Amino acid sequence: MKFREVRLQTFRNHEATEIGCALGRNVFFGNNGEGKTNILEAISYLCLTKSFYASSDATAVQFGQSGFTVSAIAVSDIDVSYKIDVSYSRDAKEKKIAVNNGVIEDKSSIIGMFPVVVLSPENANVTSGTPADRRRFIDVVISQSNKSYLQDLIEYRRILRQRNRVLFESKAGQRTSQDLLEPWNENLIKRGSQISQRRAQFVQEFSPYLVDAYIRIAGRGEEPSIGYDSSIKTDNSLTIEQAQTFFRRELEQQRVEEQKLGTTLVGPHKDELVFEINGLSLKTFASQGQHKTFLVALKVAEFFYLREQCQETPVLLLDDVFSELDGPRSEKLLALTANLGQTFITATDEQRFSTASKQRNDFARYFVRKGKVTFAKAEVLTN
Ligand SMILES: Nc1ncnc2c1ncn2[C@@H]1O[C@H](COP(=O)(O)OP(=O)(O)OP(=O)(O)O)[C@@H](O)[C@H]1O
Ligand SMILES: [Mg+2]
Repeated sequence: MKFREVRLQTFRNHEATEIGCALGRNVFFGNNGEGKTNILEAISYLCLTKSFYASSDATAVQFGQSGFTVSAIAVSDIDVSYKIDVSYSRDAKEKKIAVNNGVIEDKSSIIGMFPVVVLSPENANVTSGTPADRRRFIDVVISQSNKSYLQDLIEYRRILRQRNRVLFESKAGQRTSQDLLEPWNENLIKRGSQISQRRAQFVQEFSPYLVDAYIRIAGRGEEPSIGYDSSIKTDNSLTIEQAQTFFRRELEQQRVEEQKLGTTLVGPHKDELVFEINGLSLKTFASQGQHKTFLVALKVAEFFYLREQCQETPVLLLDDVFSELDGPRSEKLLALTANLGQTFITATDEQRFSTASKQRNDFARYFVRKGKVTFAKAEVLTN
């Protein structure tokens, strides 16, 4: 898919911004704090119904305003046009999403319709942060490619919260818990096993994409791998019934410990993704450069994986990537973006960017200043 135009109204420092998008690469230049990332954030609202980094919608409302709207015209790979409107009202604390003027009641249903891959400085956590950062990464990828996964995830989190509350209250001596836990256990097991099985399957499907992407960026010589360490000891070869049995057994084994600590100790919220290069743990042994290469490879792999799974080409958002990567990696990534559909890129340093792009000019260039965007030039607008 591609965006033909994107509009931001009272969204962060953008009072009223209209961008007529190039179908290939769109580059936004500007100094720090001028409003470049805000544009990518707005695009992430169109694709994911939320910000790719901020957890609260209210913070995106322009200071002194009561809400924001982000709208776009998007065209799918098979040339179907969509009008998308996302609006948020601070007073009503309500976010509305409309596609072709029809309000979408179940917001999660549009996830995956307009797939997106984001590479931003925040993503560094995916390789160097906590297990939760890695789980977030796969959750966003799988959610875009598999409808029931997101439903399972939403339900699982709800059940987990309730179950943890029962455990917490029982720890505090307010109630006895086994009978109270029982109704939550089966649903936790049912949804949780589905999530774990889907993750195990994903890791297997995703591996060849990662290897391929890594070679594109770093050449041969280093072999990346991705593994799945499930707290219910499940793997891709098990049936869902077997995974449920494993889950039940683990819960049983952790029963006393859970009572003691007052929280759920087993389930996909405890899973870990293991990244390795040449069989060595990335977290423990990799250099900074290897971390960066791995991260870019994950994102390029995500692009090709989603394109295949969603049967729709994702848009790619590259936020401030070229200040993070060294010259050769920047060049590789930029060269790759020439064949990756529509890309939105932010950069502060036009000179550095031009060097990395080897002076090739098939970019639509925009300048962002104080939340206003001016179109500078585009040698090639379509591809
Ligand atoms: N809700 C809001 N209302 C108005 N302005 C906001 C709001 N939230 C953030 N801003 C402003 O937006 C600006 C930051 O925008 P953005 O993050 O897009 O900058 P940037 O161009 O990406 O900068 P950098 O190059 O440093 O990453 C800041 O000036 C900030 O004060
Ligand atoms: Mg920024």
